[in-house]
Amino acid sequence: MIDGGGGLAAELPGDVTIRVLRSSDAERLGAAYRRNRQHLAPWEPLRSAEFFTTAGQHANIGEKLGSLAAGTGLPWILLAGDRAVGAMALTGMVRGPFLSANLGYWVDQEFSGQGIASAAVGHVIEASRTRLGLHRIQAATLKHNAASRRVLERTGFREIGLAPEYLQIAGSWQDHVLFQRILH
Ligand SMILES: CC(C)(COP(=O)(O)OP(=O)(O)OC[C@H]1O[C@@H](n2cnc3c(N)ncnc32)[C@H](O)[C@@H]1OP(=O)(O)O)[C@@H](O)C(=O)NCCC(=O)NCCS
Repeated sequence: MIDGGGGLAAELPGDVTIRVLRSSDAERLGAAYRRNRQHLAPWEPLRSAEFFTTAGQHANIGEKLGSLAAGTGLPWILLAGDRAVGAMALTGMVRGPFLSANLGYWVDQEFSGQGIASAAVGHVIEASRTRLGLHRIQAATLKHNAASRRVLERTGFREIGLAPEYLQIAGSWQDHVLFQRILH
């Protein structure tokens, strides 16, 4: 099991903090997803109406904390005071000779363009190397997601190829550009 304790928390630009997700975050995360529904829709899977409610977020967080307990995932939340203003997640973490995980992230529209995602990804990279002992992180973006590609470039990811029909985003299977960050 991964230690989800205070050592994985950090300060980011704009008085934003990042820490490991907790079950008590359901209400604030539901509010953040409601505020950012339009902002996130082009870049995320289709969401049920339930997803935007506190109950839906209880279920979502429960799944994520299940993966934390199993050692296959590590979910973070970004906070401005009491407000949730983004999230990061390592998923599909595998050990053995691969020592790799997938990275996903979003930042509240109101907080964008302040270097918050770049700093948070930098923090996840550092924690992945020093706390999780990973060798590699993979991220996938839609070709036209310029802001996300820029975040990955800024944090040292290298483009490794194009994966056709890789993920179902906004209701259709879409090609993605794959990036990796080697940690050692
Ligand atoms: C992608 C996202 C996480 C970026 O968050 P952020 O906190 O604004 O990111 P940062 O401020 O650290 O960096 C953004 C960079 O992209 C650039 N950028 C933003 N919009 C851009 C655009 N339309 N075209 C080109 N570059 C753009 C910014 O200028 C900045 O680069 P710079 O500092 O070198 O100028 C945020 O926009 C988001 O949540 N988008 C919706 C969800 C999403 O796309 N998630 C990722 C899925 S792979």
